[in-house]
Amino acid sequence: MTKVINTINEDILSGNICFIPTMGAIHEGHLSLVDIGKETNLKTLVSIFLNRRQFNNDEDFKNYPIEIEQDIELLESKDVDFIFLPQESYVYPGEGVPSIAPSKVGSILEGASRPGHFEGVLTVVNRLFDLVKPSHAVFGKKDAQQLFLIKDMINRFDLNIEIIEGDIFRDKNGLAMSSRNNLLSQNAKLNAANIFKSLKNVVKEINLGKSFEESIEIGINLINQNEIDLDYLEIVDEENFNYPNKYSKKLKLLTAAYVENVRLIDNIDIEI
Ligand code: PAF
Repeated sequence: MTKVINTINEDILSGNICFIPTMGAIHEGHLSLVDIGKETNLKTLVSIFLNRRQFNNDEDFKNYPIEIEQDIELLESKDVDFIFLPQESYVYPGEGVPSIAPSKVGSILEGASRPGHFEGVLTVVNRLFDLVKPSHAVFGKKDAQQLFLIKDMINRFDLNIEIIEGDIFRDKNGLAMSSRNNLLSQNAKLNAANIFKSLKNVVKEINLGKSFEESIEIGINLINQNEIDLDYLEIVDEENFNYPNKYSKKLKLLTAAYVENVRLIDNIDIEI
């Protein structure tokens, strides 16, 4: 039986918790993270908190979809133990909550385009960890840079939390699930699926022996052929988010692009 709570009390903290933080507008991607959480057999706690501090743009914050009632229904259908709906004043009471600056990876890609974003993310995640005291937490691989920085924060602060990573969940056309997809028209959703097609194309060209630069160029052209406004399309070494070198073992191709002015991100692994 799911309990909806606004604060954390001793009763909730009495067992080990698997924590799934969200900003709401729950979709199948979130539900797949819940499924992963439930596999731990721990108590599952899903937070829904639209964290103003991670938005570097007021308009983006105001437009972010909010669907609390539907979110509760969906999470109840998954039988999560707790849905945590904190007020802003509970998460950020006065001055006492430390702001967490990201390491240098926080200033490239998403961090370069959205100054202050990762500081906002790490600050809220650290604060929620402090409130919920989870033994495990589930994060999606779609936000690859966020995931990297959260794992980095856990190492830096020696937090005793095991991070479980959830695969990217896509619609039948390949569009990565995101709460922001709710802001897209049907046509835009179809068009946005070209982002993943371009990622796959870049990987195909690399596998055919083209250089990273040539392959990225082909990806950029493909994106530009559609009404998609590209921010970046870049390959990084997954271990450190640097440009790959001959020692790199795992690579990721990452992108951010706007469709109908909605910022979408996606990524794909490159096997080498
Ligand atoms: O990935 C998200 O939805 C958010 O960045 C998170 C981790 C819930 C922090 O607000």
